[in-house]
Amino acid sequence: MNITVTGASGFIGTRLMERLATRGHSVHGLARKPPTGRAKQFAFSTWDVMNGAPPVEAFEKTVAVVHLAGEPIAQRWTVEAKRRIRKSRSEGTRNLVSRIEATGKQVRTLVSASAIGYYGSRGEDLLTEASLPGTGFLTDICVEWERAAQQASAAGVRVVTIRSGIVLGREGGALRQMLTPFRLGVGGRLGDGQQWMSWIHADDLVELIRFAVEEPLLSGPVNGTTPNPVRNADFTRALAKALHRPAFLPVPVLALKLLYGEMADVLTSSQRVLPHAAVAAGFRFQYPFIEDAFEAIFG
Ligand SMILES: NC(=O)c1ccc[n+]([C@@H]2O[C@H](COP(=O)([O-])OP(=O)(O)OC[C@H]3O[C@@H](n4cnc5c(N)ncnc54)[C@H](OP(=O)(O)O)[C@@H]3O)[C@@H](O)[C@H]2O)c1
Repeated sequence: MNITVTGASGFIGTRLMERLATRGHSVHGLARKPPTGRAKQFAFSTWDVMNGAPPVEAFEKTVAVVHLAGEPIAQRWTVEAKRRIRKSRSEGTRNLVSRIEATGKQVRTLVSASAIGYYGSRGEDLLTEASLPGTGFLTDICVEWERAAQQASAAGVRVVTIRSGIVLGREGGALRQMLTPFRLGVGGRLGDGQQWMSWIHADDLVELIRFAVEEPLLSGPVNGTTPNPVRNADFTRALAKALHRPAFLPVPVLALKLLYGEMADVLTSSQRVLPHAAVAAGFRFQYPFIEDAFEAIFG
């Protein structure tokens, strides 16, 4: 299959391009900067999501598109940063869909990133794809992002939106940011540590995206989280154990707010998400438990 991947230079995009290639697919990446390392071997075009439709050369024989590009969410949410986060998801996805529509019926599948931010902070609630959206900035972003991607279904495209949880891998995402304090021995639970964290190993997420591209019966929202979410205190203990470091210093919520502003709410929010759609479709997780995921990452 010919597959075009946006956000090709990112944490997930780089791994995904390699995985799709090992399955025999031809991949064409899009981002503002070309990928580095092993992903350099793939066809690549530059595209800024905020600058109109992506170049037609990246869609010559494309039958499936994976859309990952977007302004990083884990940063201090200044007014300008929030504008970029929102615009890159809503307008960026609309720009992509306009190119997909222009290919006639050539593109059959769009797998677009979304996030469990869709659900907002929901305490002890068990959340599935059927749960209603929550409230807050990230919910609004995810609702607009998914709506923009779903527009492609009007052109006969099968659309899957992957609501990823916290993606665990050494070279990017939340874990990379957590490592420094833990290595210095000052890592600890956030606030009271009772909030639920819904996570996924990067290899499982890449495999789930691959599955969504290849599985013709899957469509609509799909939670990209393992079947075993954990409380922040348990996540912290498992990480400290894997790193052979202590984790007895809780990080006060006030310190998080001073450091990250409004974004701190994401770190203390509680989301207990279950991957109903993926499991129902027959997807098998390689790392369903947090201890095994950390062992694979640091072992
Ligand atoms: N990692 C997670 O834990 C997680 C969780 C939930 C959802 N997600 C979502 O999954 C997607 C991929 O995540 P990731 O961790 O791989 O993110 P990442 O490492 O930050 O990569 C983002 C990608 O988007 C590209 N990009 C950023 N701004 C762009 C723009 N204006 N125009 C074109 N490309 C742009 C970046 O490349 P250039 O800078 O070269 O353009 C990069 O390739 C993101 O949309 C993210 O929000 C991630």
